[in-house]
Amino acid sequence: MSNNSGPSTRSIHLHSKADPATGAVVPPIYDNAAFAYKDVDTMLAVALGEKPGNIYSRNTNPTVDLFENKMARLEGAKRATAFSTGMAAIHGTLFALLDPSKRAVSIKDTYGASYLHFTKILPRFGIDCAVCETEETDGILKEIDKGCDLLYLETPTNPTLKIVDIDFLSRYAHKKDAVVIVDNTFGTPVNQNPIEFGADLVIHSATKFINGHSDVLGGLVCGSDEIIKKIFEYREITGASLSAQNAHLLLRSLKTLGLRVERHNKNALKIARFLENQPQVDRVFYPGLSSNTGHEVAKKQMRGFGGVLSFSLKGGYEAIKRFLPSLQYAYMAANLGQVETVVGTPATTSHVELTARERTQAGIPEGLVRYSAGIEDSQDLIDDIMQALQKL
Ligand SMILES: Cc1ncc(COP(=O)(O)O)c(C=O)c1O
Repeated sequence: MSNNSGPSTRSIHLHSKADPATGAVVPPIYDNAAFAYKDVDTMLAVALGEKPGNIYSRNTNPTVDLFENKMARLEGAKRATAFSTGMAAIHGTLFALLDPSKRAVSIKDTYGASYLHFTKILPRFGIDCAVCETEETDGILKEIDKGCDLLYLETPTNPTLKIVDIDFLSRYAHKKDAVVIVDNTFGTPVNQNPIEFGADLVIHSATKFINGHSDVLGGLVCGSDEIIKKIFEYREITGASLSAQNAHLLLRSLKTLGLRVERHNKNALKIARFLENQPQVDRVFYPGLSSNTGHEVAKKQMRGFGGVLSFSLKGGYEAIKRFLPSLQYAYMAANLGQVETVVGTPATTSHVELTARERTQAGIPEGLVRYSAGIEDSQDLIDDIMQALQKL
């Protein structure tokens, strides 16, 4: 396949050959726990990784392999390893790479459970973590100077859509030989490839845009052979593997990823522009708006600005309680990136594990609406928001 082919062609055709045994256009689901062998020598060679093959589906599975290979190629990586959820991928990656002799630097605006890894979980194991103000680059550089084995970034961030400069921070962190990790869940490989800008590892909650239909939980990390091997070994031992059934659904979802993300991008941008001019709205957070602080960097590293935006209403949390149930074309739910529009507040979705005080410390306004624009017709979504705003 040509390296210049577009995202839709790539997400459809990469590693998509008809099944050699039967010619089936859709690859079979290898929904089995174990693989049988006829002789001990072959089984041993496969177990030792000297011959290709599979032994046990917690370790490797052909359907999962296909999903991993496709995602690795979409992210411009050599290899990927898939997990049962996005958090399992994040947890597995951090624990595979860190120990008490190492220091991690991260930013305040990561997804709630990721943030809690740097503020609660890793410190419990004696791992020194610095959590920096996301948009204060000098502060991040100072913490990297103090020592940095792992730099963990998310861009755009959940839920305030802040942008960090992957290229600039990766170059700086590499001077300390740090491993640079980017959570690309909001970006998707259609809009952004962090490895192109110097990141070493890219993480996804595949539950979001990669799946797109709210019927699968999954996670994934992509990177070099050497680093992914370490993470794969950690996952093999600790067991948070992706199931073959879920890999199959994710493979199906990937075929429409380019098409869906194109529509999510268009809808979110139109809605963000519309909201900027509404008197009931206090602030709109979306990297596609020129008023957004991260817009210039986003233009440099993103091909599209993503399907999620957030905004605060002038009446704060009380206004949100009236506004959200008035929307007709939006599920109030704890998900994003699916074909249906989904809304929520960080207090009940992305940052539910944090206390109100921790949310304030992390810079998350209590009166924020996170709006994941679906692929409905944009005018219907705008009309819907308009009628809900008018009820305030
Ligand atoms: C940016 C980001 N990363 C990671 C996760 C965790 O993914 P999962 O829910 O699949 O564990 C989420 C979940 O919302 C997320 O938004």
